Parts: sequence; structure tokens; C-alpha cells
Amino acid sequence: MSFTESERHRVGALYWAAFGRKLRPAFGSDEVGAALVTATLRPDRMLVARDGGEVTGVCGFHQDGHGAADLTWRRLRDELGRAAAARAWLTLAPLDRREHDGVLTLDGICVSADRRGRGIGSALLDRVAEHAARHGRRWVQLSVVDTNPRAEALYRRHGFRVVEEGSVGALRRLYGFERYRTMRKKI
Ligand SMILES: CC(C)(COP(=O)(O)OP(=O)(O)OC[C@H]1O[C@@H](n2cnc3c(N)ncnc32)[C@H](O)[C@@H]1OP(=O)(O)O)[C@@H](O)C(=O)NCCC(=O)NCCS
Repeated sequence: MSFTESERHRVGALYWAAFGRKLRPAFGSDEVGAALVTATLRPDRMLVARDGGEVTGVCGFHQDGHGAADLTWRRLRDELGRAAAARAWLTLAPLDRREHDGVLTLDGICVSADRRGRGIGSALLDRVAEHAARHGRRWVQLSVVDTNPRAEALYRRHGFRVVEEGSVGALRRLYGFERYRTMRKKI
């Protein structure tokens, strides 16, 4: 199940808390980035976990050319103006993940900091695998950065295996990480 419009703000805050460090350089400030990402999150590209009616975790995914946040050129230009949109577009491009046949690629999984370690992330991984199977995918894929060994350990326990390693090279200072691993799980 995805998020409702009344939950958009909460979902955006969770997403930005987890991925703002990586996305911030595209927007120049946390405020601008968080607002734009929150406004562009797509309910049809995110699964959410709830506890007592409160969203506790989210898992975005790419499908049919759209990821969790709809940061299209048109949307960036309309919201930021042409010059800032061009900067955002160029900064986000190296982070973009192409879709592959038969593969559902995740676009950010995160759990509220005060709820981690209680199985919510695992439940989201199971649910996104079910979603992938329902949509005819045979694999689930994600990327994890070298500064996040605990998340990588979780993915390994869930059956994900490294299929590719890459580097953002000289852009490491910009994004806050250098190397990343692409992992896949057969479903
Ligand atoms: C990674 C994350 C989604 C896992 O969700 P979770 O609900 O904590 O996961 P579970 O309770 O099902 O499993 C616990 C495992 O998650 C991993 N984990 C726990 N806290 C974590 C944290 N702060 N950062 C990264 N991984 C964490 C560990 O492998 C942990 O097992 P351990 O306690 O034996 O070390 C969540 O911790 C999180 O949001 N982390 C910050 C954002 C992030 O790193 N996202 C992944 C990007 S690839």
C-alpha cells in the first residue's frame, strides 16, 4: 500500500532525512531540495509501512520510466527556473538508474530513525519483492553505497548479491560517497 496525500509531508521528511545528503547538491539547500522532492514523490512508486496509523518506513522503486520522485526536466524548470534546473538536472544525472528487462530497481528504502532494527525494512523488502513478482519481474535490484555496510549486510541476509561495483570518482565530495554496489535478488 502506498501513501495518501495527507501523509506526503511525513513521507517526504523520511525520504529526505535518509537521502538528503546525496540529493542536496542538486538543489543548493536542504529547504529547496526537501520541498521539491516531497512535492514530486509518486504514491504509485512507493510502498509504505505503518504502525498505529503513522508512516514508519518507505520503499521507492522504478517502473515504466518513473522513480519515487518525479524530478523531470519540466518540473525542475517550472519550480526552480532554467539555470537552477540545469544544475539540478546535471547533478542528479549520475545518480540515475536505468531500468532493465525483468528487473525491478529500488529507488530508496528507509525507516524512521527511531524505528530501525525492528523488522520494518525487512518487511518492506519482502513486499517490494511481491510487487515485483506481481508485475512479472524476476529480479529485484538496488544500489548501496560503500559508507553503508549495515544496509548491505541486511540486503545480503535477504538474498541480494553484488552484480556490479561502481564509483562516482571525482564527484565523491559532492555526493558524500565514492563507491557503490549494485545488488540483485532473484524472486
Ligand atoms: C536500512 C534500513 C532501511 C533497514 O530498515 P530496518 O527496519 O532498520 O531493518 P530491519 O529491522 O529489518 O533489519 C535490521 C538490519 O538493518 C540494518 N540496519 C539497522 N540500522 C541501520 C542503519 N541505521 N543504517 C543502515 N542499516 C541499518 C542492519 O543490517 C540491521 O541488522 P543488525 O541490527 O543485525 O545490524 C534502515 O535502517 C534505514 O532507513 N537506514 C537509513 C537509510 C538507509 O541506509 N537506507 C538504505 C539505503 S541503500
